[in-house]
Amino acid sequence: MTAVPQHSTIAVTGAAGFIGGWVVRDLLDRGHRVRACVRDASDDTKVGFLRAMHPHASGRLTLHEADLDRPGCFDDVFRGCDGVAHVSHVSTYDDAEYVQRTCDHIVASVERSGSVRRVVVTSSVAAVISEADITELVRRPVCDEDRYPDESNPKRTPERGQGYSIGKVIAQRAFADAAAASATGWDAITVCPADNVGPIQSAHQASGGPWQHLIEQMLRGRCRIFQGTGPYRPWMTVDVRDDAACHAGLIESDRVTNGERYIAWSTERRDYADVVATIDRVLPELRHDPGPIADDTPERHRAREAEFRSIWAGLELRNDRIRSVVPIEFRPLDDSIRDCVESLIAVAGVTPHRHAS
Ligand SMILES: NC(=O)c1ccc[n+]([C@@H]2O[C@H](COP(=O)([O-])OP(=O)(O)OC[C@H]3O[C@@H](n4cnc5c(N)ncnc54)[C@H](OP(=O)(O)O)[C@@H]3O)[C@@H](O)[C@H]2O)c1
Repeated sequence: MTAVPQHSTIAVTGAAGFIGGWVVRDLLDRGHRVRACVRDASDDTKVGFLRAMHPHASGRLTLHEADLDRPGCFDDVFRGCDGVAHVSHVSTYDDAEYVQRTCDHIVASVERSGSVRRVVVTSSVAAVISEADITELVRRPVCDEDRYPDESNPKRTPERGQGYSIGKVIAQRAFADAAAASATGWDAITVCPADNVGPIQSAHQASGGPWQHLIEQMLRGRCRIFQGTGPYRPWMTVDVRDDAACHAGLIESDRVTNGERYIAWSTERRDYADVVATIDRVLPELRHDPGPIADDTPERHRAREAEFRSIWAGLELRNDRIRSVVPIEFRPLDDSIRDCVESLIAVAGVTPHRHAS
């Protein structure tokens, strides 16, 4: 399919976000013109870092207000764009009809643009590995782009915490199907990023992620094992800058085909306690004192800790597909943690909890 060549015009949704902000920066570094879509362009606490980017001074980077929930609001922004990086979250993933509607809004604006040739849609590894029954990961441990969660499991419902994974799969298919049916000649490629770690560019991003927020809490000496992605699941990471490079590379690639998806992860994985310990190992000058690590894991899961850990350890994480189409060398997680910590201190003003001596 047609690649979006260098020096094109690309719209980025969710541009004020952690990943979106890096996608904007990467595209600018490659020479593109970028239309950064945010919900409130007057909120300097969220968009000040975009305005501070040098290409904003020349007009190569522009800011545009648009809310996914309002049909037609991307019409003007997308008109004249060659590509769209649809990075933003939606307001909820637990309502399939709503998720489909937000996709329809973007698709309609792409169709009306008459110019967009590629849409890169940000999904998640949750659309690859999030299982209602964790033992499904034992049966199918190879985590590559062909792996989907067991969609026939009746427990795969928003009520049981699967809404995010369901919503991401819906979005992937909605865009691929719309592009396949379109007469205007665009395609849709999906990126499935893993756990993004790396530097924040704006103070408001310190509370998001959740991964940079968890590091912020560690830094403050408030360590609490994260339950959100499954009991005792290790972090499976990608540096946010590498994730952005995957997005930009997929926008430009002429080796991808409508409907394909690409997992963006380094294939490194690390348990929560080891992430905590990494801070002192990579930045001993901080004299970081993490304090005790709280573990609120429910008793019924604690009893199965060894089993859960062995299931996660048995996964085979693959990234050969993205590396075959995007020239990328994934950064080591140590570097991502170091740069995240330094940015939390420098950009968000976080005060680390330190040993007395
Ligand atoms: N962070 C990770 O580790 C990770 C991993 C896998 C996948 N992802 C995916 O990557 C994407 C970006 O994640 P992130 O971590 O960068 O999140 P983030 O920092 O919270 O940024 C998300 C952005 O989405 C925008 N947004 C939310 N609802 C919107 C709506 N109704 N209309 C327009 N914009 C809306 C927000 O805009 P405002 O600035 O206006 O609030 C925000 O800037 C998401 O699709 C997420 O599912 C993230």
